[in-house]
Amino acid sequence: MKRITLGQSDLSVSRLCLGTMHFGSRDDAASSQTILDRFVEAGGNFLDTANIYARWIDGCSGGESEELIGRWMQERGNRDDLVIATKVGFEYPGVERGLTAELIVEECDKSLKRLGIDRIDLYYAHKDDRNTPVDETLEAFDRLVDTGKVRYIGASNFTAWRLQKSLDIGERDRRPAYIGIQQRYSYLRPRAGTSFEPQLAASEELLDFCAGESFPLLPYSPLLGGAYAREDKSFPAQYEGPDSDARLKALREVAGELGATANQIVIAWMLHHTFPVVPVVAASSVQQIDEIIAAEQLSLTDEQKRRLDAAGV
Ligand SMILES: NC(=O)c1ccc[n+]([C@@H]2O[C@H](COP(=O)([O-])OP(=O)(O)OC[C@H]3O[C@@H](n4cnc5c(N)ncnc54)[C@H](OP(=O)(O)O)[C@@H]3O)[C@@H](O)[C@H]2O)c1
Repeated sequence: MKRITLGQSDLSVSRLCLGTMHFGSRDDAASSQTILDRFVEAGGNFLDTANIYARWIDGCSGGESEELIGRWMQERGNRDDLVIATKVGFEYPGVERGLTAELIVEECDKSLKRLGIDRIDLYYAHKDDRNTPVDETLEAFDRLVDTGKVRYIGASNFTAWRLQKSLDIGERDRRPAYIGIQQRYSYLRPRAGTSFEPQLAASEELLDFCAGESFPLLPYSPLLGGAYAREDKSFPAQYEGPDSDARLKALREVAGELGATANQIVIAWMLHHTFPVVPVVAASSVQQIDEIIAAEQLSLTDEQKRRLDAAGV
């Protein structure tokens, strides 16, 4: 798998990031570790987790994914080969939602402990917090970078203007800058006016910002839970819009031309954007992860990329 330097950082990351949201909770330890091994074997080095994963699964209270990754890294002795991203800002048992300084600093220590590491490579603000001053949040991240507990920071579920505001305040106060934005993004577009609250889908404005600034976008839920591939799964209702049939038709056409699956074309289309896009992919079996990894090798012609972009416009 190819690597790129992530935005204004010296992190060299694989073109695909492996999301581990359900590892150690919905997905048992053995299958989670098999998928991690397969991803790394194929050249992947970039893992995504969060303090809260996966608090919504029965019997879980958060921290299960970080702990599983920690145990796996310890067993494999491969921590130094990996880029570990985790997040703070959403609520889970005993912890409120928000980005106050106190919460960020406390949660960082807990994540480090669960992961069994002394430094997080990329620490995301998981959800913007409009009740805490931006300066307070950035000052806390600055302290963590200063003490070596965090290398870089990222944003997730921020609107474009709030992201720009954080970048401006950070520049003014010489604080660390967010180096990328992790947002909900797929090939199908949410219908205008729909919401995924508390998640945020990448808006036209955010995409324009990323394109204009070459600012890395790390799309989450790119495969819409598997709905492109499986009849037993339906697309979230927000994606049923006036352009969805045309987009699915274009997707299936290009998939047919390249002998690929619809999932693979979604990923390949993202990798052909003019700005850095690193999809945060997830799988619950080796077959699924193999299919996703193979998408990284696909080449779309300019005409196919244009056709996919223009479908339903
Ligand atoms: N920042 C945020 O707020 C946020 C929010 C959500 C997620 N995330 C991150 O993004 C990652 C991915 O999110 P997601 O799980 O929502 O991603 P997704 O791309 O929407 O869905 C992944 C699921 O698609 C199915 N799938 C994958 N490959 C497939 C294949 N080849 N054929 C058929 N089905 C396939 C699997 O479902 P089954 O397991 O059911 O088979 C897999 O678990 C998470 O792990 C997490 O790290 C971040």
